[in-house]
Amino acid sequence: MSKELVHSLKIMMANTYAHLIQTQGFHWNVEGKEFFDLHGFFGDVYEVLFETIDIFAERIRALDAYPPSSLGQITAMNTMDEDHSDVRVSSKMVEIFLKNNHILVTQAKELCHLCEKHGDLVTQDLIIAFIYKLEKFAWMAHSSMK
Ligand SMILES: [Fe+2]
Repeated sequence: MSKELVHSLKIMMANTYAHLIQTQGFHWNVEGKEFFDLHGFFGDVYEVLFETIDIFAERIRALDAYPPSSLGQITAMNTMDEDHSDVRVSSKMVEIFLKNNHILVTQAKELCHLCEKHGDLVTQDLIIAFIYKLEKFAWMAHSSMK
């Protein structure tokens, strides 16, 4: 087990939590003509992020380490948490969502290279599956802006 890899996976998990909380907030707080579409989209996304966090946490355990397991630990580890809870404009929500989604894609790709370096094909496979989902979300969110 590589400590560097496990640490990066913990950061990835904490950042996925931050993305989940922001996305869930948008699911609750979106207003306007696009309410139904975006309420549904953000709801679908946070469910996927929730499942993914569990997969990451269990992989961290399988690597004989412990995942961040409290709000304090998650807050301390996450590197992309900004407070957007006062945003009400749907287009601004999509813009913030895309920005955070992109940060996660970039981190996930870096983590993929780290997995390759350490020959951890299982973690790499989980991360690739997550990138596929994030890029699908980006496509959908971009398309809604046109
Ligand atoms: Fe809901």
